[in-house]
Amino acid sequence: MQRRSVLAGAVGSAAVAAWGGGIAAAVETAGADTRRLLGPDGRPDWGAVRAQFRLDPGLVHLATFYLASQPRVVRAAVDHLARQLDADPMLVPTRLSLPDGPTGWDRVRESLAAYLGGEADHVALTASTTIGLGIVYNGVRTRPGQEFLLSEDDHPVHQAAARLAADKHGARVRLVHSWFADSAEATAEEVVSAVRSRLRPTTRVLGITWVQSRTGVRMPVEAIAEVVREANRGRTEADRCLLVVDGVHGLAAVDADGARLGADVLVAGTHKWLFGPRGTGLLWVAPGALEQLRPTFASFIAGEGAAPLSPGGFLAFEHAFALPVSVAFHQTLGRSRVAGRIAELSTRAKQELADIPGVRVHTPAAAGMSAGITCFSVRDLPGADVVTLAAEREVRLSSLYHDSLGYARIGTGVMNSARDVDAALRVVRDIAGRPAR
Ligand SMILES: Cc1ncc(COP(=O)(O)O)c(C=O)c1O
Repeated sequence: MQRRSVLAGAVGSAAVAAWGGGIAAAVETAGADTRRLLGPDGRPDWGAVRAQFRLDPGLVHLATFYLASQPRVVRAAVDHLARQLDADPMLVPTRLSLPDGPTGWDRVRESLAAYLGGEADHVALTASTTIGLGIVYNGVRTRPGQEFLLSEDDHPVHQAAARLAADKHGARVRLVHSWFADSAEATAEEVVSAVRSRLRPTTRVLGITWVQSRTGVRMPVEAIAEVVREANRGRTEADRCLLVVDGVHGLAAVDADGARLGADVLVAGTHKWLFGPRGTGLLWVAPGALEQLRPTFASFIAGEGAAPLSPGGFLAFEHAFALPVSVAFHQTLGRSRVAGRIAELSTRAKQELADIPGVRVHTPAAAGMSAGITCFSVRDLPGADVVTLAAEREVRLSSLYHDSLGYARIGTGVMNSARDVDAALRVVRDIAGRPAR
């Protein structure tokens, strides 16, 4: 009786009834004021998608990949779980429910695996990309003299994870400056040839980033995986080079199965493009690489495969267990439509930015070599200054702090419109036209 009232109180009894049709249906109906996400033609209604977000309408938000603003359905699911936990904490960890049925680690792993095109047994759960990378580099079985090979364009937390673990393992980190001469002109062939020439017999991990947050370049992961496979011919398991991909800006921004890229490990926070609750993330480990990774933490997730790599402890269960709703939100819209919308808006940004005197775009124009992050510079201004000047005009951009390149970035998500992009471009045009200091 008490439990029923908790459930009913969570999102309102009408919404609970509507959610009974499954999470995908719930995404369409939760909340009385939610318009349907899809129009009569079955395509996303981007206005309805935007209405799901509590983003301040007085601001132009083009940095939402930094940390997700959550759609209404995800907030409702988190709230629904929090109410159950607050009413009876002993429901943890096996008796919590989303409105359409039980949720827990198994369901979360299954839903993420379905989204990645892989199997639940190969998914571990983390709280962020940073934690996932730490688990991978700490866990990899390494022999003294082996190296982790990355580039300066990989995120500082990726480089730090490799360094911290290398110090413990007697391994070393080798950083190449970049996989391309000029990010704006980067091609798959150039990247592949650079990777081929830099791999050594002692390279134990090649760490790359699916979509670089420093340049916006989308790395040709499948082609790089092929190069790694060639390099591994004749190597023993202990000498095999593992391809580790920081996939945080590819997941839910690129139309590809993360589990079928050819990587050995894909690491991603799910609190960015996937709109998962804050403090959630995943690791996907190829079956052939499982033996090469040892757990770093005690895990609360029982099971075979990658499960023991998930750090344990009592976590934000109401966040983690709501992840299937974020996945369903994306599945309802359709991954190719989401990626298409992101690319359409970022292409608009790139083309218009390129025409502004004093502005240089550093992300490739080719859709296949980019995704939702467009990096640019304005004259010789540091990116952080461009971000500050844009913020004074109510436009939210971002830059990588403490970065020597320090480009400003426009990130286009499904909550954005061409109007948002155009508003940002007007502001960038003004900044570029200001007299130099
Ligand atoms: C490429 C890349 N990797 C890792 C991270 C860290 O992500 P998280 O906050 O999920 O740890 C970021 C942060 O924005 C990033 O851009």
